[in-house]
Amino acid sequence: MMEGMNNPAAIIEPYRDQTGGTISALRALVLAQGYIRDVDQQAVAELFNISQAEVRGIVSFYSDLRTNAPANKIIQVCQAEACQATGCRSLTATLESRLDIAMGESTPDNEFALEGVYCLGHCANGPTALIDGTVCTNLSSADADSLINGNPDTAPTEIVETDNQLIFNRCGRVDPLDFDAYRADGGFSTGPTSAESVLAEIRSSGLRGRGGAGFPAHIKWQTVADQPENQKYIVCNADEGDSGTFADRLIMEGDPFLLIEGMAVAAGAVGASKGFIYLRSEYPEAAGILAEALQIARREGALNEIFDIELFIGAGAYICGEETSLLESLEGKRGIIRAKPPLPAIEGLFGKPTLVHNVITLCSVPWIIKNGGEAYRRFGVGDSTGTMPFQLSGNVKRGGLVELPFGMPLGEFIDAYGGGTRSGRPVKAVQIGGPLGAYLSREHLGTPLTYEAMAAIGAGIGHGGIVVFDDTVDLIEQARYAFAFCEHESCGKCTPCRIGSVRGRELMEDIQESGCTKEKLILVKDLCEVMEKTSLCQMGGMTPIPVESAMQHFPGDFGLEQ
Ligand SMILES: Cc1cc2nc3c(=O)[nH]c(=O)nc-3n(C[C@H](O)[C@H](O)[C@H](O)COP(=O)(O)O)c2cc1C
Ligand code: SF4
Ligand code: FES
Repeated sequence: MMEGMNNPAAIIEPYRDQTGGTISALRALVLAQGYIRDVDQQAVAELFNISQAEVRGIVSFYSDLRTNAPANKIIQVCQAEACQATGCRSLTATLESRLDIAMGESTPDNEFALEGVYCLGHCANGPTALIDGTVCTNLSSADADSLINGNPDTAPTEIVETDNQLIFNRCGRVDPLDFDAYRADGGFSTGPTSAESVLAEIRSSGLRGRGGAGFPAHIKWQTVADQPENQKYIVCNADEGDSGTFADRLIMEGDPFLLIEGMAVAAGAVGASKGFIYLRSEYPEAAGILAEALQIARREGALNEIFDIELFIGAGAYICGEETSLLESLEGKRGIIRAKPPLPAIEGLFGKPTLVHNVITLCSVPWIIKNGGEAYRRFGVGDSTGTMPFQLSGNVKRGGLVELPFGMPLGEFIDAYGGGTRSGRPVKAVQIGGPLGAYLSREHLGTPLTYEAMAAIGAGIGHGGIVVFDDTVDLIEQARYAFAFCEHESCGKCTPCRIGSVRGRELMEDIQESGCTKEKLILVKDLCEVMEKTSLCQMGGMTPIPVESAMQHFPGDFGLEQ
């Protein structure tokens, strides 16, 4: 029996009055006992005065909230795109054969379990796996035995030094928890700036949200600022679930005070008195550093009774990166998408005006306020202003994070920083913007890395992830995976996404098994149109992007005329 098994009430009690306490309490049970039993669910229901059905609903939504005794050693292998590009499928097959179980199963003696995970944020060094809290990187099939019998190492993700690092200039070079050094480098030195002047600088900077949608930040800020309510919140979206992205992780681990300062400045400008960082559970190192940084910031007076920040750890659900799902989760519920309107800026956390931003958006704020919006706008091109931490991974010799002004052509970026493919084979496809992003072919390599140029070819920069595939990639399999990922991660609220993703995956499997026909393609296109036009959120709405771009740009893979 694991520690704490006798006394679940003591484990969950500290979370009674916490925001999102139900999820934190259930996570605590898993951490202490390995899994959640029926009696534990009853105890949680009683403590939070909710029904057992509600607790069951929460437990069944989040992948971390296990209800069965876990195996002694759980090998979680990343199955997402950047790791696919470097061979996670053959690593998985070798592990399955060595352990004589399929993915998702445990050995009969419950000694080993094989599980799939979707991005551990170490994509630049894929394939990756997670064992007992340690991320193992740069794996291959040859590492299967050492994964079973030991724990291979974690390689650090490279942050490439560039001339224009507005966000990552300290990251990797400083002690992330040295508050005095942060101050000496100009941190927390914006002074008593009025809310109006901060809003004016954000407006003139042209800063757009780095979480994916690229929405102008100043519009959201102004909307929240204009709300008459006394209670307002700021929420930092640190769920970073997109495969091929790790910028949020690196900055939170390497320069956490930058995020705290960005949140404090934004909170002051919109009138928020309370902030939350919603961090994915796959980032335990960032969690530890942030928790300590928040304590130091409080001790040093940078956080206080006027504005404070709480750290909340998610429980394993990609969809909780979507802002309304995230807010539900932060309220301790299943991460079911909310219909918009109302926008979170008007009715967000607990129905109050809430400014939700990605980590990198908020980390861009201190530089803008110190140097001025106009100075920021001078970086980049057109309405793609400032710098973006592009994250290069997949089949490249050197993956890593490269902060650059927007505008470099995609192919030049890959050549300059990736140094060619790891396999030595030609580049065939590049997926940009995460799992809901487009697959581009060699003919798109001249496209500049800007929001506008990417939109013109049906792609998006998203959170800045760029995943390279060599000529062994099969785009039918990638399209099948896109539907399967949506099926796995769908919140289930609307039919086009919940059912459409299943039908899409089945269709792709049919194409894989018995070839492609015009009729099947028409069906896929019809399905994509329905998902795009009628899904409630962009999970279902954007899943057609990787599917249709694969079909459009790689017709040969589908047996179509080129
Ligand atoms: C399926 C889905 C997943 C998302 N995941 C994330 C995420 O992990 N991190 C993030 O910052 N934004 C994510 N977003 C975007 C958020 O909904 C929201 O636009 C963002 O947090 C706003 O911050 P920004 O203005 O700084 O971009 C996701 C959106 C969708 C539809
Ligand atoms: S599109 Fe998918 S994730 Fe979004 S609300 Fe519908 S079912 Fe939920
Ligand atoms: S760690 Fe595998 S895709 Fe990110």
